[in-house]
Amino acid sequence: MENNLKRHDGNYRYCMNYANPMLDKNGEVILWVGATVDIHEKKLAEQFLISSHEELKKLNSELDDFVYSVSHDFRAPLTNIMGMTYMGKDLTEQMFKNEIFDKIYNSAKRLDTYITNVLDYSRNTRLTIEKNEFNFNELIDNAKNTYNFLPGNDKINFKVDVKAGIPFYSDKRRLETIFNNLISNAIKYSDLKKPNPCITISVTVSKEEATIIVHDNGIGIKQEYLEKIFEIFYKASEYTHGSGLGLYIVKEIIKRLNGQIKANSEPGEGTSFVFKIPNQ
Ligand SMILES: Nc1ncnc2c1ncn2[C@@H]1O[C@H](COP(=O)(O)OP(=O)(O)OP(=O)(O)O)[C@@H](O)[C@H]1O
Ligand SMILES: [Mg+2]
Repeated sequence: MENNLKRHDGNYRYCMNYANPMLDKNGEVILWVGATVDIHEKKLAEQFLISSHEELKKLNSELDDFVYSVSHDFRAPLTNIMGMTYMGKDLTEQMFKNEIFDKIYNSAKRLDTYITNVLDYSRNTRLTIEKNEFNFNELIDNAKNTYNFLPGNDKINFKVDVKAGIPFYSDKRRLETIFNNLISNAIKYSDLKKPNPCITISVTVSKEEATIIVHDNGIGIKQEYLEKIFEIFYKASEYTHGSGLGLYIVKEIIKRLNGQIKANSEPGEGTSFVFKIPNQ
C-alpha cells in the first residue's frame, strides 16, 4: 500500500508499505511482519512523467490545430493578395486601383497579425520570465498607438485610470502582448453605431498584485460563447477576420505569470476583461 507519511522533521515522503502475516499452526495471525520503503523520488519522477505526457498531448493537439489554421486562415489573405495583384495589373481606372490597393493592404495586415500571434505564442512557451519595473501609462499608450490603423479607432473615446503608488514588477514583454490583444479586441468589436463608443482601462497596483480592467461598450459576447473565447482558434463572431489566437495567448501568458483572468459580457452592452498579475 502506498501513502504519504510525515517525518519527524515535518516533511512528507511517499512510502510503500509491505506487510505479511505470520500464522500459527491453526492458521491464526500471530504477527505481522512489514517494511516501509521510501519511494519519494520514484513517485516524483512518476508524477513528472505523467505531467510531461499531458503537456505533450496538449502540444500535439495544438500542433494539429496550427496546421489546420495555417492551411485555411493563413492562406486566405495570401490567396486574396495573389488574386488582387493579378487583377490590378490590367486596371487603368485609378479609382479601382485604389480600392484594390486597400484590399491588398488589409489582407497583408491580417497576415501580419497572424504571424505576430504565432510568434507571441511561441515566445511565451519558450522564453523564461523576466522581471522589469514598468509604467502602465506608457505600456497602454504604446498599445493604443499600435492600433491607430484599425477602422473606427478615431471615433472611440479612451479613458485610462492608473492607480500605482508603488512600483510594479513583472514581465514587460508579456504584459505588452496582453494589452495589445485586449485593446485590439475592444476596438475591433466596438459598436460604432452607439453615440459614445468608449474603452475604459483601469489599473490598481498593490504590493501583492495589479488588478486590471479593460472595459468596452461594444457588441458584447453571448453567454454561451463566453467560456469558449479563451480556447485556441475560437471566434465568437462571424465578422472577425482574426485568427482566434489572441485570447488563447492572453490566457496562456497569464497562466505562466500565475495570474487570473475573467470575462464578463452582455450582448449589445459591452464586455469587461478583469485580470490580476502578481507583483513580483
Ligand atoms: N471585447 C470584445 N467584445 C466582443 N467580442 C469579443 C471581444 N474580445 C473577444 N471577442 C470575441 O472572442 C473571440 C476570440 O477572440 P480572440 O482575440 O481570441 O480572436 P480574434 O480577435 O478573432 O483573432 P486574433 O486576436 O487572433 O486576431 C473573437 O473572435 C470575438 O468574437
Ligand atoms: Mg483578438
